[in-house]
Amino acid sequence: MFEASRYKAYYGGRGSAKSHSAAKAALIRAGKSRLRVGCFREIQRSIKDSIKQLLDDQIEMLGMQGFYESLQNEIRGKNGTEIIFSGLGQMTTDQIKSMEGIDIALVEEAQTISERSLEILIPTIRKPGSELWFLWNPRNASDPVDQRFRGLHPPNDAIIRKVNYTDNPFFPAELEEERAYDEINNRDRYGHIWLGDYEPMAIGAIWDRATLHSSRMSEAPEMSRILIAIDPAISSEEGSNEHGVVVVGTSEKRGYVLEDGSTRGTPKQWATRAVNLYDKWQADAIVVERNQGGDMVRHTLETVRPGLPIIEVVASRGKHVRAEPIASLYSFGRVSHVGTFPELEDQMCLMTAAGYEGEGSPDRVDALVWAMTELFSDLTRRKVKNVTVPQTMTSGAWMG
Ligand SMILES: Nc1ncnc2c1ncn2[C@@H]1O[C@H](COP(=O)(O)OP(=O)(O)OP(=O)(O)O)[C@@H](O)[C@H]1O
Ligand SMILES: [Mg+2]
Repeated sequence: MFEASRYKAYYGGRGSAKSHSAAKAALIRAGKSRLRVGCFREIQRSIKDSIKQLLDDQIEMLGMQGFYESLQNEIRGKNGTEIIFSGLGQMTTDQIKSMEGIDIALVEEAQTISERSLEILIPTIRKPGSELWFLWNPRNASDPVDQRFRGLHPPNDAIIRKVNYTDNPFFPAELEEERAYDEINNRDRYGHIWLGDYEPMAIGAIWDRATLHSSRMSEAPEMSRILIAIDPAISSEEGSNEHGVVVVGTSEKRGYVLEDGSTRGTPKQWATRAVNLYDKWQADAIVVERNQGGDMVRHTLETVRPGLPIIEVVASRGKHVRAEPIASLYSFGRVSHVGTFPELEDQMCLMTAAGYEGEGSPDRVDALVWAMTELFSDLTRRKVKNVTVPQTMTSGAWMG
């Protein structure tokens, strides 16, 4: 971060010291000469979303409390240095353009930066010697920051580096514990979270990342119907399986994924989780698949709460076959995720027309598909014609 270069693009997995290194370098450089530093992200709802706290901590670690003054929304240096924090996605073009005097633009979580924000920010940072620093955990090759720095024509005068936890000499024990856990229990996501790989996506997946990201919302409209769907994992190894539990709603003919409450544990645990979500969202009903558990599934729920409205569904077709009509609702832009559901979305993007390509079973997708199938029953229900079977074949008479 100390070498001179117009662009610095550091991408990689969790805990690779991207934020710490950038914060430290910015503070040291802005201590030596008067700089205007802008710390940006796409959305900044409050100053808590920014890296201000990290900068405040670093100021102490560097023993620079006498030099820097930390105010509510900015940091000032005795030499006139100014550090400001802002969400690019919420700023008008004019507001971004008014930042022409910035020397260092530090963009955190750059994987979520929109093309619009990049297009306005980059030419605005035009002071001689000014720099743009981008830090991110890669998500998808189609994200604007990846296109720009990891595409076919990265800019000249750029330091573009992949960094991982192994590059961080201060990688803390707490994170190491989390990493080791994920290495065993979270195979699908491990490469993405810890090694800086793109999010898992199978070739021929029926859902794609770009669609999920582009229809995402941060707040849901008022729902006309809310369902909780459960795909309970039934196996002898009780407690180790994951049970898919998702909350889905509908409003004005669009579907919304509201919460992924999937959990590991005993039947009592998934049933309790489902009932809690039912209360929390004031849901209309609970949808359960009865193929594997039969009456046990209903019974388990009724033990936790008698008299729940339960819709029982029976799977007669394969998981991915059931999933396809729901995936097409997404591709028509009729479903939004309200918030991010990383594990669920990974499972979705590993579901192909030929089956599931992830580890284990896609319980979260299954629950999602049941819920959406019920919500959009008009669209997804197959009109099964009454098939008349010749008498001789059903009577059994021909068997003698
Ligand atoms: N210079 C440093 N001195 C002390 N500890 C450090 C230093 N740099 C990094 N660390 C430790 O490493 C951890 C991870 O660093 P940091 O948060 O900067 O990583 P990151 O790459 O930004 O990760 P993420 O992708 O999760 O945002 C920090 O929480 C801190 O404990
Ligand atoms: Mg970081």
